[in-house]
Amino acid sequence: MMQAPRLRRSVLYVPASNDKALAKLASLSCDAVVIDLEDAVAPGEKAAAREKLAKILGNRPAGVREIVVRVNALSSEWGADDLAAAIACRPDGILLPKVETPRDVLEAGDLLDEAGAPESLRLWAMVETPRGLMNLGAIAELGRDANPRLSCLVAGTNDLAAMTGVLATPDRRYLMPWLMQMVLAARAGGLDMLDGVSNDFRDLDAFAAECGHGAAMGFDGKTLIHPAQIAPAEAAFSPSPAALAEAERIVAAFALPENAGKGAIGLDGRMVELLHCVQAERLLAKAAMIAK
Ligand code: COA
Ligand code: MG
Repeated sequence: MMQAPRLRRSVLYVPASNDKALAKLASLSCDAVVIDLEDAVAPGEKAAAREKLAKILGNRPAGVREIVVRVNALSSEWGADDLAAAIACRPDGILLPKVETPRDVLEAGDLLDEAGAPESLRLWAMVETPRGLMNLGAIAELGRDANPRLSCLVAGTNDLAAMTGVLATPDRRYLMPWLMQMVLAARAGGLDMLDGVSNDFRDLDAFAAECGHGAAMGFDGKTLIHPAQIAPAEAAFSPSPAALAEAERIVAAFALPENAGKGAIGLDGRMVELLHCVQAERLLAKAAMIAK
């Protein structure tokens, strides 16, 4: 079952150890932030980062729709403390790094249940290891489960490139098959799928092009490392005026009395199916959320 549409076009990582970046949150408007306790925080800073997390979430930044905390792997020495700190802060989601098997997600879900975390607390999962990628179908399948905490998959392209030895070229040609596989798995599980980060935060033209490719590949949005990347990501992952006009025409056509109950109709010389109408309705729902 597909989950209700959400806006996850621009998802900014903010290191929980970086005071200046945390202070910036109050002035940012992106669809989501991931406050990071993992890769962006050095081992010696983990405990201090948890304290900063509690402080920043005690005064929730108003311009951000969803706040997610990335914890260290639950198998690591920091995982349990991170998870407890994250739950106590009442974020909207917890992002699990280096997820390799469905069990990794199920165990985290059990811990959330045991801690009495509300059902609305979602789990997000990083796809960033060869093993995680090989098991991705089974991981994504959890999205169809009756216990629906898993909501979103996130491509971890830096880890994946490092762990596989694949050459990370600007056009991402060698990563592309794996990225497409991620989109496919996420769709099979009814989950959102976020594209990986672009490390070069000064070349915004190249970044805009990469966002365009990500949108064309079917990603729901992009993970970001710098505030300058928010606007180009939102431009690329928002429906264009032409797409919206087309969606409105499709919905209007299916609403005509003569088309009631039909699975396929003709519209301006083209076949349009009921599935296109469902897709159009989701697009319009997203546009309505953007307008708010
Ligand atoms: N979130 C919030 N604010 C950020 C930010 C982020 N990810 N990255 C930069 N900023 C802020 C800076 O603090 C600075 O604030 P100021 O206007 O108050 O001075 C402003 O944006 C401009 O930053 P800039 O000077 O261009 O970059 P920087 O050298 O301060 O930071 C990085 C560069 C790469 C260190 C920083 O962007 C970063 O840490 N990104 C996230 C890294 C991360 O989380 N990685 C793990 C996931 S891949
Ligand atoms: Mg990583």
